[in-house]
Amino acid sequence: MNIVLLGAPGAGKGTQAQKLVAEFGFAHISTGDLLRAAVKAGTKLGVEAKGYMDAGKLVPDALVIDLVKERLEADDAQNGFILDGFPRNTAQAVTLDSELAAMGRNLDAALLVAVPSESVVARLSSRRTCKSCGYTAPAGVDVCPRCNGEMYQRDDDKPETIRHRLDVYENQTAPLVEYYKGHSILKEVNGDRPVDEVYADVKALLAL
Ligand code: AP5
Ligand code: ZN
Repeated sequence: MNIVLLGAPGAGKGTQAQKLVAEFGFAHISTGDLLRAAVKAGTKLGVEAKGYMDAGKLVPDALVIDLVKERLEADDAQNGFILDGFPRNTAQAVTLDSELAAMGRNLDAALLVAVPSESVVARLSSRRTCKSCGYTAPAGVDVCPRCNGEMYQRDDDKPETIRHRLDVYENQTAPLVEYYKGHSILKEVNGDRPVDEVYADVKALLAL
C-alpha cells in the first residue's frame, strides 16, 4: 500500500507512521528525517537545507524531490511506502504523481491527521527526538525506546519557529487536502485523541 500522510507540524504523522511501519513493514519516507540526517552528516545538501529548516521555511523543491525519488526507487519501498512530510505544496504533489506514474505505480490513500493548532503548539514545545534514529516522544523520555539513542529538542521546535511552520502549513500545504479530494483518495482521521485510538481509526480507514 502506498500512502501519503498529511497534517500540520506536530499532528502526529511521524508517530502514526512509526506504528504502521512496525506492524506492516512499509518503508517510512520522512523528508524531515532525511534532511536532518543530511544536516548531521554535513553533506552539501545538509548545509544548504539547514538555514531553511531552522527558520521553519520549506527547503527548495528541487533538493527535496531528488531525495524522495532516490528513496522511492530503493528496494524496501517496492512493497509499500508511507510518505511523511512530502508532498508539502502543489508542485511537489504534481511531481510525485508523475514520478509514480513513470514507475507504473500510484497512491492508494492520502491520510489527513487533523489536529487543532492549540494542541500542536503544546505537543511540539514538549517534543523530544532521538539523535540517532529520529524516533519522537513527549518530554520526559530521555532514552530512545527503539535504539537507546539520546533524545534532544529539535532546533525548529522553539515557539517562534513553530508559529512560522504553522503559517507555512496553512498557506502552502493545506491546499493539498483539496488536491487529494479531487483525486478521490483523501481520508481524514481526528488526531486529537490518544495515540492508540488514532491508530485504530487509521487502520480502519486504510482497511488494514
Ligand atoms: P518535518 O520533520 O516534516 O516536520 P513537520 O511536518 O513540521 O512535522 P513534525 O515532525 O513536526 O510533526 P509530526 O506530525 O510528525 O508529529 P509527531 O508524530 O512527531 O519537517 C521539518 C522541516 O524540514 C520543515 O520545516 C522544512 O524546512 C523541511 N522539510 C521537510 N519536508 C519538506 C518538504 N517536503 N519540502 C520542503 N521542506 C521540507 O508528534 C509530535 C509530538 O506529539 C511528539 O512528541 C509525539 O510524541 C506527540 N504526539 C503524537 N501523537 C499524539 C497524540 N495522539 N496525542 C498526544 N501526543 C501526541
Ligand atoms: Zn532512536
